[in-house]
Amino acid sequence: MMSKSKDLFSFEGYAIPLPLLMATGGGPDTFSVISETHIRNITETCGLGPGMNVLEIGCGIGRDAIPLTKILGPNDSYLGIDIIRDSINWCSSNISRRHSNFRFLHFDIKDQLHNPGGTFKTADLPIPLENSGTDLIILQSVFTHMFERDIVFYLQEFRRVLRPNGRIYATCFIVDPLVLRSARATNLTQYDLSFKFSVGRGCYINNPEVPAGAVAYEYDAICRMVRRAGLLPAQDYLRGGWSGLYENTKDGQDVLILKPKTDSVPSHEIIDAQEAYLGAIEKRLDASEPHYDGTPLPRPTKWKLW
Ligand SMILES: C[S@@+](CC[C@H](N)C(=O)[O-])C[C@H]1O[C@@H](n2cnc3c(N)ncnc32)[C@H](O)[C@@H]1O
Repeated sequence: MMSKSKDLFSFEGYAIPLPLLMATGGGPDTFSVISETHIRNITETCGLGPGMNVLEIGCGIGRDAIPLTKILGPNDSYLGIDIIRDSINWCSSNISRRHSNFRFLHFDIKDQLHNPGGTFKTADLPIPLENSGTDLIILQSVFTHMFERDIVFYLQEFRRVLRPNGRIYATCFIVDPLVLRSARATNLTQYDLSFKFSVGRGCYINNPEVPAGAVAYEYDAICRMVRRAGLLPAQDYLRGGWSGLYENTKDGQDVLILKPKTDSVPSHEIIDAQEAYLGAIEKRLDASEPHYDGTPLPRPTKWKLW
């Protein structure tokens, strides 16, 4: 049961300060629906359940951590890391106080949007977890604010801490010509996600004044980063609803499900899905629907998965 007071948002028995909640990128009206969606999707795709050690990067104000306290057992562990000090302090004082197996850590990484006074770069701070002990790593709308060098650093750290059968669940914005065209035409989100600024190597930003405000990648760029870290897609990525191109989507953003690279190649299922999708893009581009605003669209590239 939820209720709202002036400065606090009541969620699952916790009173969350509204200014910290607003820093997660959504408002109180969508907080619990998004939380439920996150947990449902992670459960369906990564087998979330008791007996798991979980790491969450960019945990914010505990939108996922709070429901996870009801899913993980007392001997399981959860570590939440974020760069907003006040959010981490709140999570420690409120969530860890009730659940001592839930720990929260502030990474004082400098970031124009979330921590402008920060001291460190992402690559200065290794994740303080042992090798091969983590079952699940969650990032909800975090790679949507990061650039390649830092994403690769995190992914390499994830490869180190993940168990061989572990999974990474990471949302992001993945663009191709059709997605860009649809996003620019539909403009469904409150953030005006048109990604008109290509900054090279398959990376697009929305606003040059706040480059990390929203960052999108072509799938080939994502695969390059994933490959460099010794990871692989565990399945085809889930298409999100943000661009308006896809129907019946599971999340607003696109979702990567990654695993450590133990086989030499990804499964045929993934390769077939990619071939089919690239073919569909080419066909629809060749039908040459007029571009919505004349902004040049990239040609699709063939994804190199390994
Ligand atoms: C859009 S918010 C989402 C918060 C949370 N995942 C949720 O869904 O409620 C993005 C979060 O990522 C955090 N963040 C941004 N860059 C980060 C980095 N390099 N390392 C860890 N967290 C980061 C921000 O501080 C912010 O809390």
